[in-house]
Amino acid sequence: MKSLLARLNGERTKKTPLWLMRQAGRYLPEYKEIRKTKDDFMAFCLDPCLASQATLQPIERFGLDGAILFSDILVVPYALGKSVCFEHGPKLACTKTQEDIKTLVWEGRKLDPVFETIDRVKEKLEESVTLLGFAGGPWTIACYMIGGDSKNIDQGAARARESKEFIDQLVDIIEKHTTEYLLRQIESGVHAVQIFESHAWLLDVQGFERWVLRPTKRIVSAIKEKYPHVPVIGFPRNVPLELYKRFSTTTGVRALSLDGNICRKKAKEALLGVTLQGNLKPEILVQGGEALDKEIDNIISDWGEEHVFNLGHGVLPDTPVKNVERLVLRIRA
Ligand code: CP3
Repeated sequence: MKSLLARLNGERTKKTPLWLMRQAGRYLPEYKEIRKTKDDFMAFCLDPCLASQATLQPIERFGLDGAILFSDILVVPYALGKSVCFEHGPKLACTKTQEDIKTLVWEGRKLDPVFETIDRVKEKLEESVTLLGFAGGPWTIACYMIGGDSKNIDQGAARARESKEFIDQLVDIIEKHTTEYLLRQIESGVHAVQIFESHAWLLDVQGFERWVLRPTKRIVSAIKEKYPHVPVIGFPRNVPLELYKRFSTTTGVRALSLDGNICRKKAKEALLGVTLQGNLKPEILVQGGEALDKEIDNIISDWGEEHVFNLGHGVLPDTPVKNVERLVLRIRA
């Protein structure tokens, strides 16, 4: 039985299912080893042999309940024809004007290697492990496309103040292709998907409604229409609890991933009818020791039987592997 999938669907399971955002990556020596074989990170993501190994590494090492497809949210702008490279973080060719929007052409077959990665992972994955697909939320992708890198990510919000119509157009295009991309991941066999809206916090309430809630609702409806049994996890990172609540009641997601700033007890009262996931601050996993043990126990006691154990954001590169081992042992105890 897939305990993670069951719990995402709101069923009670004997043990608390566990996976970690960014569970594959630079804190793992075996990842660093295979990463050396390609200079270009996008080429690494689009190599089914390497990407399937990276997906499986944290499962083989820690026995987690969920495997997340190894890829990146920025493959969507890449398939829209933008150049994307990674040098101390992502660098994209910017999309700032109406003219730039006109040049966007979706070439879905550029993402064919991702579906081959899913095939390869599924051949090796144990029956009990849930395979998660993912995509960036349209607003977060728009921010990277407008700003071009992590330092200029707030240019998305600045552009939104200048022209709502421009953001409407860009977000619409991204939403359409993200829907198609997620449906294809599901067709290839992922059991659930997560939408990473990492920069939701940059928007005011009106912007959040227009460029996060509306497109997410449409993506979730399209998935539910074709694959009603596939749960969607939403992650509108760093917004206040009130907006998580609006997200949960408006979009139709089955589960919500909560960042580390959210008060667990209030969240449990406010967010009814969805499975809760996350909230452990990644810095506490870096710290390890008794501070980590204490926080794990607090999360289990606050959220009990109904949640999915995870971090409030991705595993940090300086996380000691032994701290992840300690976390797994304690959850399994
Ligand atoms: O293990 C997993 O979670 C699966 C793979 C995964 C990656 N990125 C691999 C990656 C996932 C789900 C992502 C999501 C992602 N990518 C997000 C949303 C989550 C979040 O962190 O808020 C965002 C915003 C991105 C964009 C991105 N990709 C950035 C900002 C960076 C550079 C920052 C950094 O950590 O270096 C990346 C690169 C990236 N994506 C790496 C990995 C393992 C590191 C690249 C390397 O190994 O050289």
